[in-house]
Amino acid sequence: MSKPPYIRRCEPGEEASLFDVYFTAVHLVASRDYTAEQVQAWAPPDLDAELWKSKIREINPFVAELNGELVGYADVQSNGYIDHFFVSGKHPRRGIGSLLMKRILVEAASLGVSSLTSHVSRTAQPFFERFGFVIAEQRYPEVRGVVVPNALMYRSLS
Ligand SMILES: CC(C)(COP(=O)(O)OP(=O)(O)OC[C@H]1O[C@@H](n2cnc3c(N)ncnc32)[C@H](O)[C@@H]1OP(=O)(O)O)[C@@H](O)C(=O)NCCC(=O)NCCS
Repeated sequence: MSKPPYIRRCEPGEEASLFDVYFTAVHLVASRDYTAEQVQAWAPPDLDAELWKSKIREINPFVAELNGELVGYADVQSNGYIDHFFVSGKHPRRGIGSLLMKRILVEAASLGVSSLTSHVSRTAQPFFERFGFVIAEQRYPEVRGVVVPNALMYRSLS
């Protein structure tokens, strides 16, 4: 019988597994809301491994582990900004994102931040809305030369 996912901090050496989570989240799930060109620019298969590793170390995310496999990850910074929030495209809609968000909310409380913010993809907006986030601004940032729209969302914690 499979155990529920376990949420813990990312450990050094797990960066490549998180790239797989990111890649499948974008290519298998977000691809419903973005064009093939946008998906390719957002998560290119040949993304520089050293840059990726240093990004993951910088954001120090929580990870969701299921039967020994990393199936999701998300961070919250000391200013309340959520930089990355991804669940593997091989494990969608099984409550893994919700477990990560609950851990982020606990962490935000212990950091003492008054609000959370994130630049949220079209795909993830219903999920963030379910957790009380509202859209502050529609954005049209360029990623590797391609416009990949998202929205600035926030949730007050006070
Ligand atoms: C958004 C994301 C993190 C959600 O993770 P998840 O583990 O599938 O989410 P959960 O199973 O905990 O979903 C909880 C609830 O959120 C809502 N939700 C989640 N994904 C949704 C979707 N694609 N469309 C509409 N509602 C959604 C639903 O209400 C869902 O409850 P239900 O399944 O009982 O209906 C995941 O789909 C993902 O990584 N997406 C692609 C990458 C991405 O856009 N990341 C965010 C970058 S800011």
